[in-house]
Amino acid sequence: MNKPIPVIAIDGPSASGKGTVAQRVATHLGFHYLDSGALYRIVALASQQAVIAWSDAEAVAMCAKQLSLRFENEQVWLNDKDVSEAIRSEAMGKGASQVAVHQALRQVLSSVQHNFRQAPGLVADGRDMGTVIFPDAVLKIFLTASTEVRAQRRYQQLLAKQQTADYQAILQDLLERDARDKNRASAPLLMAKDGILLETDHLSIVEAVDRVLENYQRFIQFSA
Ligand code: CDP
Repeated sequence: MNKPIPVIAIDGPSASGKGTVAQRVATHLGFHYLDSGALYRIVALASQQAVIAWSDAEAVAMCAKQLSLRFENEQVWLNDKDVSEAIRSEAMGKGASQVAVHQALRQVLSSVQHNFRQAPGLVADGRDMGTVIFPDAVLKIFLTASTEVRAQRRYQQLLAKQQTADYQAILQDLLERDARDKNRASAPLLMAKDGILLETDHLSIVEAVDRVLENYQRFIQFSA
């Protein structure tokens, strides 16, 4: 019997470093990469452009159904416009977490995410990769760090991009986003029962990537 295409799920809260870790793991293994948060950010942007309130579950889901999306390397195209930069703003992060509470939208995006599962494998990062979207993932990592460390990382990221940054505002925003992501009824942020906790307060990106790869090697050895 053919083995299913392997998925490595990397979930965790905002600014835990999961995007960078997931991307590097994918590159190392020659796997495809899914940044599921980008999908929610795109929907937040598209809704805003269509003057749809982020709280309007039905209209947001309808808007998502009609999206014309294209992913090319690290770029995202929405209706033939490169929105890679636009979706990275703090405002779209906030918007993403507001539209993400709607079950109808999560349903629409579910099949979009499944389409990323292609040979030889996929590394997917988000909030519900291991719990809802790819419950049969061969490895489920829950990558996290304390709120202060995450706020500090986000602050440094913004400074590096020459954007203005206010540490207290970032910390406040992270706390709000964590609360919304953890407490929503639909696909809340939580570690999968068979997940592996990776706490990164004292881990560099390289060390975190190595831990994920070690765990994957262990899986390969056991399943051989
Ligand atoms: O980069 P950061 O971790 O701040 O955010 P992101 O991964 O781009 O996700 C933005 C928002 O989308 C999150 O705060 C979640 O509310 C939502 N999201 C989700 O609900 N499910 C996912 N699989 C990924 C993101």
